[in-house]
Amino acid sequence: MYYNSIIDTIGNTPLVRLNKITEGIKGTVLAKMEYFNPGNSMKDRIALSMIEDAEASGILKPGGTIIEGTSGNTGMGLALVAIAKGYKCVFTLADKQSQEKIDILRAVGAEVIVCPTNVSPDDPRSYYSIAKKIKQETPNSFYPNQYDNINNTKAHYETTGPEIWEQTEGKITHLAAGVGTGGSMCGTAKYLKEQNPAVISVGIDTYGSVFKKYKETGQFDEKEVYPYLTEGIGEDILPKNVDFDLIDTFIKVTDKDGAIMTRRLAREEGLFVGWSCGSAVFGSLEYARKNLAEDDTMVIILPDHGTRYLGKIYNDNWMKDHGYVESMDFANARDIVQNRSTNSSLLTVEAHQSVDEAIRMLHSRSISQLPVTINDEFVGSLTDSKILRQLIENPELKDKSVSQVMDPPFQFVAMDNTLDVLSSLINKDNKALLVRDEQDQVHIITQHDLLMAMTK
Ligand SMILES: Cc1ncc(COP(=O)(O)O)c(C=O)c1O
Repeated sequence: MYYNSIIDTIGNTPLVRLNKITEGIKGTVLAKMEYFNPGNSMKDRIALSMIEDAEASGILKPGGTIIEGTSGNTGMGLALVAIAKGYKCVFTLADKQSQEKIDILRAVGAEVIVCPTNVSPDDPRSYYSIAKKIKQETPNSFYPNQYDNINNTKAHYETTGPEIWEQTEGKITHLAAGVGTGGSMCGTAKYLKEQNPAVISVGIDTYGSVFKKYKETGQFDEKEVYPYLTEGIGEDILPKNVDFDLIDTFIKVTDKDGAIMTRRLAREEGLFVGWSCGSAVFGSLEYARKNLAEDDTMVIILPDHGTRYLGKIYNDNWMKDHGYVESMDFANARDIVQNRSTNSSLLTVEAHQSVDEAIRMLHSRSISQLPVTINDEFVGSLTDSKILRQLIENPELKDKSVSQVMDPPFQFVAMDNTLDVLSSLINKDNKALLVRDEQDQVHIITQHDLLMAMTK
């Protein structure tokens, strides 16, 4: 089985359940993983639909040029479709876009023109205005205009919506998505609401964008507009693809909250996604915490891949420079211990107890590791993954004593060690550390504690 060209692989992306960051939330929360598209974003879908419509209506003829103002992902989708169908591409981008996005577009043969971010859309220097001007000056050219081209919404109505409906077997109760051009949210919501009018749609907006206020008051408030960094969502215009009747409510998310959640998605869920994905998840979970019931199923559209943000939110120095991980500079083992919500004493297992008892302790407290003691002295350690491996080889081990399967004890470190030092000491062979406080009480520091402290 093979595809005739790369564009035949667009769509049919998987739905993946979020497992860890949804702790404490009722219901099922699923991510629609759009980076599985060949251009690594959901914009491949709209690129195909806009170009095929232009071909069908005779606007785009063989050998033509596609010109678009794009934040990068739409450009990538258009470039792939253009290669398969034999067109040229010229793209204009705002200079807040990541260098990776610009490089990627050039890698697939597009001409890229970088324009200033902080000018109004009707300023002749804006990327909207420059794209329009080039269009006027280029014969046999097509300006898809993803903001106002209704084939954007149509692509999601015809593909993303039906995919989600089938993948959830009609069980979806809530749809959440970032809103930029509005195409993904409105096309998908339109289809899903037609299947079941009770489906609730939650739009994710940024601070510095006009959407939320417009939805709530009907007022286009220019005072809401100010520069922000999150790429792809929020707008200072009202694109035709945003149908406010199809979006039940908006939640605004800050650049910082979106960035930190994106890093958590990579580390805690293995979803190496783009910045607006973190914003979408952060806002959706805020909504879900208050509104989701046990039987509800929420689907969040995650638009793109993390590679395009390696130089920004996945770069520790960039994050520090933007004040997004301030706590990292100061947090140490003492902070972790003091910030614990429960102040219960350290759970340990005695070396003479059975492996079976130890497993029950791990399970009942939902923990992954245990220090092993003999008369208050730390003599060894147990971790769930290692016990499991040993039990698979030798199921009888569960009746043996802990001393027969334990590993060396966890290392003791000083309370004032900072997170970067602590994290360098925790690895696959050394799953946890121990610290002793001024009252001589011993506490455990795990990988989970470090992750929680880093993403506070
Ligand atoms: C990374 C990213 N996230 C979210 C969006 C918003 O999606 P839509 O334009 O369908 O509203 C876009 C669109 O530009 C995007 O590129």
